[in-house]
Amino acid sequence: MISFDHVTKLYGETPALSDVSVNVQDGEFVFFIGPSGAGKTTFLKLLTREALPTKGDITLDDWKVNTLPTSQIHLLRRRVGVVFQDFKLLADRTVYENVALALEILGKDDREIARDVDKVLELVGLAGKKYLFPQQLSAGEMQRTSIARTIVGGPGVLLADEPTGNLDPETSWEILDILQEINDIGTTVIMATHNASIVNDLKKRTITLERGEIVSDEARGRYHIHKKARRLRGKP
Ligand SMILES: Nc1ncnc2c1ncn2[C@@H]1O[C@H](COP(=O)(O)OP(=O)(O)OP(=O)(O)O)[C@@H](O)[C@H]1O
Ligand SMILES: [Mg+2]
Repeated sequence: MISFDHVTKLYGETPALSDVSVNVQDGEFVFFIGPSGAGKTTFLKLLTREALPTKGDITLDDWKVNTLPTSQIHLLRRRVGVVFQDFKLLADRTVYENVALALEILGKDDREIARDVDKVLELVGLAGKKYLFPQQLSAGEMQRTSIARTIVGGPGVLLADEPTGNLDPETSWEILDILQEINDIGTTVIMATHNASIVNDLKKRTITLERGEIVSDEARGRYHIHKKARRLRGKP
C-alpha cells in the first residue's frame, strides 16, 4: 500500500503539495488530474524519492520513503517504475537493448534477459520491432518501448506521468489498454493526465488536485476541472 500522511512540499514559500493525505491499495488503478501546476508530478516525485517532503510521511508497504537511506533508494526504484511523457529512450540502442538494459543493471544473465525482454515486448505488442532504433519508431511505439523497459524488472507500482501527452487519441487508447493489462496482472498503476476523454471513459478512481490540495477523490471519477482553470489553460 502507498500512503501519504499529511504531506506538504514547499518550493520556497509556494506549496506544490499542501497537507495531502491519501492511500492507494495494492492493485489499484488511479488517475491524478488537475490543472497545470496542481502538484501531480510533485506527488509522483515524492514517491520515487526524487524529491523530499517538507512535512509529513510517505510509506510504500513497509518502507518509510522519506527517511529511506540514500543507499537504499535504488531498491525503492526497482519497486516503483516511472513512465514519462517524453519516453526517455537511449537513441543509440535498439528497442531490445533499451529494455534489456534495465535487467543488465540488476545483474541478470543473458538467457534470463532474453526471456524476460521477449515476454514484455510481446505484452506491449512490439515483438516484431525489437531490432529497430528509437528514431525508426512512431511515438506510440516509443512509449510502448518505454513502458516495456519500466515493467520488465517487475515493479509492484507503475507511475505514468502524462504518458499520452505526445500521442494522438487512437495511440493514447492503445497505451491505456497496455496500462490496464499491466494493472490486470497485479501492478498498481498511478497515472497523471490531462486527457479528459480517457478519464471519463474508464471511470476509475480519480483524484483531483488543485493548487496542491486534493479537492476530490472519486471511485468512478470524471474529468471536471472547473471553468476558470480551463480558461487559464486556453481551453473554452
Ligand atoms: N523543482 C522545482 N522548483 C520550484 N518549483 C517547483 C519545482 N517543481 C515543481 N515546482 C512548482 O510546484 C508546483 C506543482 O508542480 P507540478 O510539476 O507538480 O505540477 P503538475 O500538476 O504536474 O503540472 P502539469 O500538469 O503542468 O505537469 C508548480 O507551481 C511548480 O512551479
Ligand atoms: Mg506534471
